[in-house]
Amino acid sequence: MEKEIRAIILGAGKGTRMRSNLPKVLHEIFAKPLIGWVLDSIKKLPYKTESIVVIGHGAHDVDEYLNANYKYVRTTLQKDQLGTGHAVAQAVPMLHGYLGTVIITCGDTPLITTSTLQKLIRFHEDNGSDLTVMTTKFDNPTGYGRIIRSTKDEIMKIVEEKDANEYQKEIKEVNAGVYCLNWAKIRKAFNDLKNNNAQGEYYLTDIVKWARENQYRVMGYLCEDNEEIFGINSRQHLAIASNIMKKRYLDELMTKGVTIVDPNSTYISPETQIGIDTIIYPNTYIEGKNKIAKKCKIGPMAHLRGNCEVAEGCKIGNFVELKNAQIAKNTNVCHLSYIGDAELGSHVNIGAGTIFANYNSITKEKKRSVLENGVSIGSNSVIVAPVQIGENALVAASSCITKDVEANALAMGRAQQKEYKNWVKNIKEKK
Ligand code: UD1
Ligand code: CA
Repeated sequence: MEKEIRAIILGAGKGTRMRSNLPKVLHEIFAKPLIGWVLDSIKKLPYKTESIVVIGHGAHDVDEYLNANYKYVRTTLQKDQLGTGHAVAQAVPMLHGYLGTVIITCGDTPLITTSTLQKLIRFHEDNGSDLTVMTTKFDNPTGYGRIIRSTKDEIMKIVEEKDANEYQKEIKEVNAGVYCLNWAKIRKAFNDLKNNNAQGEYYLTDIVKWARENQYRVMGYLCEDNEEIFGINSRQHLAIASNIMKKRYLDELMTKGVTIVDPNSTYISPETQIGIDTIIYPNTYIEGKNKIAKKCKIGPMAHLRGNCEVAEGCKIGNFVELKNAQIAKNTNVCHLSYIGDAELGSHVNIGAGTIFANYNSITKEKKRSVLENGVSIGSNSVIVAPVQIGENALVAASSCITKDVEANALAMGRAQQKEYKNWVKNIKEKK
């Protein structure tokens, strides 16, 4: 039988330091909200997972986003943000009758990986732990809860920065804010939390003390890579996290055989797959889910906006924007073009300055265009969707194409050139 896991993700906090009208968890990295990154890492666990998100600040917006993108996720409202323990308590009734393993994590830590979550769960189970806290170490642990260990493996309690004494503040091992619980045993802790601390909040971290008092086994799982638990509290943090995510993925791509000419100026969403011997030139920005095959040349200064497939041997050159475009082998879009909502066959050539007009601003509809194999589009043309251009057809430069074109035809959608003999000379002589 497939193993089941339930996850509770905390996302009700305000995120005051973001100074934003947008709830914190909806701020984006590579066009995906923070909460989306966390939910995806959980979803990729090799178990049957069910996630519950605790929402509060901006609940309406978060709910709307989750409904549109993560239909399977359930939400629960924390009306007043009385602390992380109080937040989890809001999810307890939704797990009524469930007695398996639960993980708790925050919606503002987008760098947490599936592999780390899995290691936490394995550690928890292999050691027969009842409550496992993920920890990590920081040279400067300011702001985090400090881990007080009783033995090498076991944890006695977690002390929040604001409640810590001088000695405790020196501790470098901190609470990562990710937990694994034996729900049958630990769920009762949420009835007993108190708010008698420096912040007057119901601390989730107090479940450690509760578990110890009830003779349960509490262990700490150290995550070596402290970048993974990096939580976003400000716009500065958002930029740092984006850069970490970007750097991580560029490293992975280079290891796999993709050339990144200038990693500093290149942004590639981790949801974009790229084949070997493809070269990414500087200042390229790739967001969303895309597939780029092997032996392609992308950039410099190319922008892929998601849902693009670029097959082997294609060239996507400078100032080219692609969105929702499927491009077959050995096709070239070398300069200054926009290809949106389109399917391009193989050996297609798109001249400089070609625009796919895919959007009707009156009906607000987007339409697709299809170019079959071997089509050649002359420079400065507009392809007004929806049109289909048949195999090996040629579109003359500067054409506006509004109707389908047959295979092997020449289509010319521009005014005929006229010539007025001696026109310039005559004007000059009149003066
Ligand atoms: C928390 C931990 C701290 C840990 C740190 C790791 C507690 C008491 N402290 O501190 O030990 O080192 O995370 O990042 O848990 N939230 C709610 N409702 C609330 C309060 C918070 O949903 O009432 C959510 C926030 O949206 C956020 C998460 O819980 O996603 C963490 O809250 P935050 O206030 O950032 O906790 P920290 O002070 O960072
Ligand atoms: Ca935090």
